[in-house]
Amino acid sequence: MAINENATVASHDDAGPGYRFLVLDATRLASALVPGQFVHVRVPGLEPTALRRPFSVFDADDGKVTLLYKVVGRGTAALATARAGDEVEVLGPLGHGFPSASKGVPLLVGGGYGVAPLHFLAKRLKDSRTILFVGGRTKDDLLALDRFEALGVDVRIATNDGSAGEKGFVTGPLDAALDELRGRGEPFELFTCGPDGLLKAVADRAVAAGMPGWISMDRHMVCGVGACYACIQKTVHGNSRCCVEGPVFKAEDLVW
Ligand SMILES: Cc1cc2nc3c(=O)[nH]c(=O)nc-3n(C[C@H](O)[C@H](O)[C@H](O)COP(=O)(O)OP(=O)(O)OC[C@H]3O[C@@H](n4cnc5c(N)ncnc54)[C@H](O)[C@@H]3O)c2cc1C
Ligand code: FES
Repeated sequence: MAINENATVASHDDAGPGYRFLVLDATRLASALVPGQFVHVRVPGLEPTALRRPFSVFDADDGKVTLLYKVVGRGTAALATARAGDEVEVLGPLGHGFPSASKGVPLLVGGGYGVAPLHFLAKRLKDSRTILFVGGRTKDDLLALDRFEALGVDVRIATNDGSAGEKGFVTGPLDAALDELRGRGEPFELFTCGPDGLLKAVADRAVAAGMPGWISMDRHMVCGVGACYACIQKTVHGNSRCCVEGPVFKAEDLVW
């Protein structure tokens, strides 16, 4: 059952060029959310009829909910002006998240703000084998790596321009790790969030390897609660609503 909580901004800081960390005091939501679910935020400062904006959850702990977001348009620009003490109405938990345990070595693959739900997942998995593969165009696209390292996650990086980590796509270090795990006969499970091209690359690898893959889809949303059918994702079971049946789907269920 979704909760509509009047949260209070606890802190609001830069998280990299054009990115922000929003920490909300939201006691009921913090205890109800699981990794991969999302919240629908009524942006303060926009007209009351404005649509809410959906965001993944970077962290939910100790009465606080943290979002990691990129300023891309009118809503996120208005959100970026919220200050400590301001009230923000937040609806959640929404959608289906990631499984709560991994059946093999947890391989997390993210790009841009897609690392947000993967951080919450890594924190809840508490699995010392967890590896994060993160990619970006330049080092400026790599977000919150220190927060993953603080959880003991092994972070492997690729950037298109070589400004951090391996030069090229994140599938480079990912494929190397997959080869190594296959060579040792060790099972793994893939979890991903990021741009569509990355999601498909990860889903293809999970299906080809016959290992579980969990793909968090980012579709434009309107109502966020299953009523408008704006967020349709094709699956082998037919059209699914990303906000209700997703945003996390099984790799083998997706039709691209
Ligand atoms: C389940 C889910 C989880 C999300 N989690 C995060 C998150 O953790 N951090 C974060 O920064 N963003 C996240 N997003 C995207 C976020 O909702 C949009 O960036 C935001 O709604 C844009 O609002 P705006 O008014 O600033 O931009 P608008 O003015 O509405 O749009 C500005 C630009 O952003 C594009 N855009 C709008 N919505 C999306 C979207 N859903 N996906 C891709 N591009 C979009 C538009 O096409 C346009 O080019 C998530 C979206 C979904 C569906
Ligand atoms: S956003 Fe309305 S059904 Fe998903």
